[in-house]
Amino acid sequence: SSNQMWGGRFAAGPDAIMEAINASIGFDQRMAAQDIAGSRAHAAMLAATGIVSDSDAAAMREGLLTVLSEIEGGTFAFSSALEDIHMNVEARLKEIIGEPAGRLHTGRSRNDQVATDFKLWVRDQIDAAISGIEALIAALLDQAEAGAEWVMPGFTHLQTAQPVTWGHHMMAYVEMLGRDRSRFVDARARMNECPLGAAALAGTSFPIDREMTAQALGFDRPAANSLDAVSDRDFALDFLSAASICAMHLSRFAEELVIWSSAQFRFVTLSDRFSTGSSIMPQKKNPDAAELIRAKIGRIFGANVALMTVMKGLPLAYSKDMQEDKEQVFDAADNLMLALAAMEGMVKDMSANVANLEAAAGAGFSTATDLADWLVRALNMPFRDAHHVTGSLVALAESKGCDLPDLSLSEMQSVHGAITDEVFGVLGVHNSVASRVSYGGTAPEQVRTQIARWREVMS
Ligand code: ARG
Repeated sequence: SSNQMWGGRFAAGPDAIMEAINASIGFDQRMAAQDIAGSRAHAAMLAATGIVSDSDAAAMREGLLTVLSEIEGGTFAFSSALEDIHMNVEARLKEIIGEPAGRLHTGRSRNDQVATDFKLWVRDQIDAAISGIEALIAALLDQAEAGAEWVMPGFTHLQTAQPVTWGHHMMAYVEMLGRDRSRFVDARARMNECPLGAAALAGTSFPIDREMTAQALGFDRPAANSLDAVSDRDFALDFLSAASICAMHLSRFAEELVIWSSAQFRFVTLSDRFSTGSSIMPQKKNPDAAELIRAKIGRIFGANVALMTVMKGLPLAYSKDMQEDKEQVFDAADNLMLALAAMEGMVKDMSANVANLEAAAGAGFSTATDLADWLVRALNMPFRDAHHVTGSLVALAESKGCDLPDLSLSEMQSVHGAITDEVFGVLGVHNSVASRVSYGGTAPEQVRTQIARWREVMS
């Protein structure tokens, strides 16, 4: 039999394979609440503009709530013959309220309907991402505050570079996540124009009120071009690209946690709640949550590339290709939220091994730059010369198998005669970090200033 929604010109129903490739109900049922909210706003507008009667609109709005409760209660029978959530809801509405259901689709199309539903869905996910990021920032601020003074090695090339504070390292991720948050805030503001009323592609001859539906659905304004409104998926791509960058940051931090929790580093101990064991090696405690967060970027960035590729080259306006938008975005959103929540849990639970951090901070001649800076300040040496002298001192220490602070004054003076024992005051790791008071530097007082600023921003 032919389709009850569009089958007027069809003599035969679709092939089973056609139905299988065409149906989206298996996944777009996740937009049921958005679809019903959009239809209820549309019904109210149809009555307010006199396009349908008040009693018909009231029946539609009431009936749609019944459909929603059936879906939420798990009693709704989804049908793939009805293709998608839009037609499943409308068909059920017809069963419940009869003839007035057939007036709901006046002045709209599934093209503006799906764009509206999907925008509402993505907008909710943007809000969820922002909350997830804020919760993670809060956990990082607590870690930073606890360890504003703890010293650890800072790395470049993953080689020990200069001592930094634990708080400073945590706050680096706060900065990244703050930018991620603002990308989602920007995306939300940019997307917040309502496609509903663009109809199939050209607008409608009915005297609809697009301001009214836009406002009812929490949009700032109606989208200004009907062709663009039904064929735009930029909002989903904005979401996916913001999600990709955020997941990339989470992946970098996850990689650090994997390294830091290894027996070779022992910088942190991850909680049992966010680790797993091995079925063969009894001693193992693996950082699986961190590893999975590290991996999530793969599917999130994959979704971004997939949807970009679907959209490129599509002529205006709607094409069925665009139905491929949802599964990618659903999957990316689910996994981003999971990664944010798992990272928040790990950060809250992890404990820094302060003594190991400090021991590692001093290894590898990490205060060599402090020594060079001292030569500049105390002996008025040009920095390039100081760099050279310090390099010779490092070579001397290395040949003796000791660290810079372990060299005696006379050994130091064998490299440069003017060195005094004042130099030992700059060689400790605590002296080193305390001296880095330039704005944005690693000194505890600078870190505390940034923690206070972020607590203000987040309040
Ligand atoms: N299921 C469709 C989608 O997700 C809804 C829009 C269908 N529009 C159409 N003209 N076939 O894109």
